[in-house]
Amino acid sequence: MKAEIHPVDRIQLGGIVTIRDALLAQQRQGRKVYRLESGDPSFSIPEHVAAAFVKALRDGHTHYTPGAGIPELRQALYDKLVRKNRLPLTSPEQVLVTNGAMHGLYIVYRALLDPGEQVIVPDPTWTETADNVVLAGGEVVRLPLNRDLRYDAASLSAKITSRTKAVALNSPHNPTGTVMTQQELHTTLEVAAKHGLWVISDEAYEDILFDGNTHVSPASLGYERVISVYSFSKSYAMSGLRLGYVACTDPLLVERMTKLLRCTINGVNAATQYAGVAAITGPQDHLAHMVAEYQQRRDCLWQALVRCRLLHPFKPEGAFYLWAAIDEGWGGYQGQRDGWAMTRYLIDTFGVGSSPGEVFGPQGAGFIRFAFACSSEQVAEAAQLLPQAFA
Ligand SMILES: Cc1ncc(COP(=O)(O)O)c(C=O)c1O
Repeated sequence: MKAEIHPVDRIQLGGIVTIRDALLAQQRQGRKVYRLESGDPSFSIPEHVAAAFVKALRDGHTHYTPGAGIPELRQALYDKLVRKNRLPLTSPEQVLVTNGAMHGLYIVYRALLDPGEQVIVPDPTWTETADNVVLAGGEVVRLPLNRDLRYDAASLSAKITSRTKAVALNSPHNPTGTVMTQQELHTTLEVAAKHGLWVISDEAYEDILFDGNTHVSPASLGYERVISVYSFSKSYAMSGLRLGYVACTDPLLVERMTKLLRCTINGVNAATQYAGVAAITGPQDHLAHMVAEYQQRRDCLWQALVRCRLLHPFKPEGAFYLWAAIDEGWGGYQGQRDGWAMTRYLIDTFGVGSSPGEVFGPQGAGFIRFAFACSSEQVAEAAQLLPQAFA
């Protein structure tokens, strides 16, 4: 009998990693490169968060913690989720501390899915959303965004089968930068409710919003089968400290995820959790400063890209990614004219990083993503170079 393909063999090592490695190799050879391929915030962590991290080490918080998180952090997150996100939680026990939102998604899908169950994922999507479904033995069903890159709740019903278990949402969205409106969320939740589906809401970019756009947490809208996933990486620039959290009101899923936490990490590192308490309960004024700077970078890059005859950019409403269609008239590079060819062209010719749209799913073909999470100087210099690339 032919052996089944192992779930881990069904996912790739990671497309963006190969681009980052190419850029870093060029940098080592003394070339100036621009890191617009990756979404790692250029900012330092807020001073009081750094102080709390160091203090935790000095105070001896270097031992095992409860697997699902220290009580102080779970309480602080519970308070934040009820107050800011308006989640209908009744206890801090419904909040689980994870090793980043990435790990949050891993335990959510592992806890939720039986082998072969389907999750409907927006196309394009952040790659790891789909990968975590596959790792849990699930099947990814892709729902193309519409021409305006809006989530197409009207087409959702057509994707639902007897095996559909959940719908994955991500707003603000990586890679397109769109922010779902309350109306779009309502329509999506109505479809989910009609079929008894779970909604997995990845809210990693909840604080990175432009032009007065606001973030609405789907779990606040009255449908109870919503699991919400959050990150400290973007809101507090804590990407390297690895801290995220999951909110879920279903006792069985909470129990399963608690078991998974024990067997995967047995608790996020203790000092990071204390830093997390300081981040959540301390002043939030760094956010306005960070978002204003992201918006300046977005505008700078946007203005450069609208001048590129061969690119058609979409203006992001949130997150820090600019998604652009490659014009049919582009002549290509080294005999190819897909997103990978354009990414290679921009690296080889100008040292400017980007991510090929293909990495994010079939609907990404013919698109390219620029991240503006690197420094404002890098974004400004790249913005000078890009119009020359297509002169
Ligand atoms: C949509 C989305 N979710 C989750 C994450 C992962 O966040 P974390 O660093 O908390 O694992 C990212 C990181 O880029 C992301 O783009």
